[in-house]
Amino acid sequence: SVDISTFMKQTGYSTLDSGFVNTAATKSAITYIDGDQGILRYRGYPIEQVAENSTFLETAWLLIYGELPTADELKSFDERIRRHTLLHEDLRRFFDALPANAHPMSVLSSAVGALSTFYEDTMDVHDAAQVELQTIRLLAKLPVIAAYAHKKSLGQAFLYPDNSLSFVDNFLKLNFGTMAEPYVINPVLSKALERLLILHEDHEQNASTSTVRLVGSTEANMYSSISAGISALYGPLHGGANEAVLKMLADIRDSGQGVARFVERVKNKEDGVKLMGFGHRVYKNYDPRAKLVKESADEVLAALGVKDELLDIALELEQVALSDEYFISRRLYPNVDFYTGIIYKAMGFPPRMFTVLFAIGRLPGWIAHWREMNLDKATKIGRPQQLYIGSPARDWPTDR
Ligand code: ACO
Repeated sequence: SVDISTFMKQTGYSTLDSGFVNTAATKSAITYIDGDQGILRYRGYPIEQVAENSTFLETAWLLIYGELPTADELKSFDERIRRHTLLHEDLRRFFDALPANAHPMSVLSSAVGALSTFYEDTMDVHDAAQVELQTIRLLAKLPVIAAYAHKKSLGQAFLYPDNSLSFVDNFLKLNFGTMAEPYVINPVLSKALERLLILHEDHEQNASTSTVRLVGSTEANMYSSISAGISALYGPLHGGANEAVLKMLADIRDSGQGVARFVERVKNKEDGVKLMGFGHRVYKNYDPRAKLVKESADEVLAALGVKDELLDIALELEQVALSDEYFISRRLYPNVDFYTGIIYKAMGFPPRMFTVLFAIGRLPGWIAHWREMNLDKATKIGRPQQLYIGSPARDWPTDR
């Protein structure tokens, strides 16, 4: 028996798999998905149990190190992250160079890329202590960078992190606190955000994680690899869908044409319009995360006393789509992004921050994959093939 690449070389065959629909690029022990059954597990633990029982940082540890932490391990992980939240003062000033109306996702990827300019010492990807430091710095600093991207868009002063607070509360304070008044923690917001971040922590070889792995396979450091992952997440077919869903719901409301007419436009593929927040490359069943997010949407809106007509439109859209042959035959169900925007909006985040919140959630997964890949001695640089369809060889024209 020969391995597949030897077989391909020997026979001259190549596989054309546009979009990697049927090609595994790696083995991984981090996350298991069964898209037909709607199953998602982190290191073997069902997502429903993780979301019910864990915290964002405990789940991050599980994904990155493979097992649940002991109480002491978790405490020291949390403390190390709290100690690294401050940004270099020059990095704070880096934000001044960017336009105030810049999309926060562009700000996020630029500032994370810029982190590697501050930590030139971290270029050896095989140095375990350095890899550990990059892990802690990214977990500590990404929420601060994200909050500054938000504050910059509002023209408000940046706050320093408050390391007496938990990961989630610190992040909420950095976003919604001001210099003028003390920040009051709202436990409803904290609990809901913690849960949403947990649900986003990993999703195996999605576009952004595959990007992190591809960039990381060149032995680029973690900051550069994750900056590339953030850029991949930005697109509306991936993480950008949560922002696009809210825009779609608001457009349906403002057009006054109703849900049925919008669904007709989707089915007729008018102007390429899609039902954003529906469909998934892997799930051909209800996305288990979407079920949990939907529960949270009801809880959070009730607890905050918010009535949002966009939630009613979303519920109606889901009902219409799930009983329509177009969606049934294509096995299109709500994905994780369908209801998240409604919760983020109720919390007070502007739509342009929604994908940034996804990025904070996904960070532990990106780190876990980068580390898994770099630990694996069998990793090769990622280098897809192509089937050339251009001109055959020809001579440069002599009359030019
Ligand atoms: N609305 C309408 N039709 C859709 C949708 C949708 N949201 N998604 C897929 N379809 C249709 C396609 O047009 C295609 O129909 P056809 O056979 O008549 O041409 C069929 O369903 C299969 O779709 P593909 O595009 O081949 O599916 P693929 O796996 O390549 O795409 C994707 C998956 C990108 C998620 C797609 O479903 C989509 O664009 N959804 C909307 C954007 C979105 O919500 N993205 C977030 C994904 S989850 C995440 O990244 C966190």
